[in-house]
Amino acid sequence: MGVAGLTFEDNINRKIEFVNRSLCEYFTKEENYQKKIYEAMEYSLFSGGKRVRPVLALAAAELFGQEESVMPFACALEMIHTYSLIHDDLPCMDNDELRRGRLTNHIVFGEAMAVLAGDALLTRAFEVVLKHSRLSPQQMIKGLAVLAEAAGTEGMIGGQVIDMECEGRAVGKDVLRAMHLHKTGALIIAAVRLGVIAGNGDSEDDWRLSAYARNLGLAFQIKDDILDVEGNTELLGKKTGMDEENRKTTFVSLYGLEQSKKMLEEYTQKAIEQIMFYGEKSEFLKEYAYFLLKRDN
Ligand code: IPE
Ligand code: IPE
Ligand code: MG
Ligand code: MG
Ligand code: MG
Repeated sequence: MGVAGLTFEDNINRKIEFVNRSLCEYFTKEENYQKKIYEAMEYSLFSGGKRVRPVLALAAAELFGQEESVMPFACALEMIHTYSLIHDDLPCMDNDELRRGRLTNHIVFGEAMAVLAGDALLTRAFEVVLKHSRLSPQQMIKGLAVLAEAAGTEGMIGGQVIDMECEGRAVGKDVLRAMHLHKTGALIIAAVRLGVIAGNGDSEDDWRLSAYARNLGLAFQIKDDILDVEGNTELLGKKTGMDEENRKTTFVSLYGLEQSKKMLEEYTQKAIEQIMFYGEKSEFLKEYAYFLLKRDN
């Protein structure tokens, strides 16, 4: 039993439902000449997804007795993540046709609309925070800086740049690690940091939770690389074997499956060690790391 006597399963489901309800509440749309864009945005935003980043933001804030106060930032993260997936799937990037169990955005709405839907989700993320957050001006400024940096050239975009430049090339282990830490780690690190900000944690909390998320982010992308090789398209909701087809550098391509699985466990364990300090309160974050390790989607 964890927070408020909930089992881990109940807790995670409650968090996901809370996130989905809030996303709906924040996702306002207009019936006007540009209404197509809302359809394209909604199509990807409300098509499932594990909601990993918002769940992590809520769980981190919960360590400090908060949860609701981080929600606008949590939803902003999911919007930015969804935009990154829409663009990641474009023919000029990974050229994928299946995402979250559905045809990809550009297959349904066309490339131009998919680019615009991604751009619109990124912009809307910041609008949601500015309109809905009730945090203090100081917390808002800190949080917006964390969010913007994590999404940008020193964060997710930076990782995607490395990913694209490494296609079909032999790259070193350091480059691969940097790629994963940026393209996937950045938003995961931002999630827990936003929880710390909303919960008024101190710099030690920021340090500990960032270390947790850095290791978790690496583990998460290693698992994604593994699932691309031995996952099941039906369960995964995206086509497997695409990394090899696109000649991507991944943990599997560089270390092989067995070693990648070992590293996945090591990074998960390392992540958990960083939050032992919080004792019982860290139970959810600990179980969540194992849950992500074992996931099949
Ligand atoms: C997929 O992210 C892309 C990566 C960064 C690995 P998720 O595995 O979180 O995808 P959804 O949100 O559940 O669809
Ligand atoms: C994507 O990594 C990371 C993003 C920033 C979107 P992948 O390209 O491996 O993600 P999937 O496998 O398509 O979900
Ligand atoms: Mg990619
Ligand atoms: Mg991809
Ligand atoms: Mg992948």
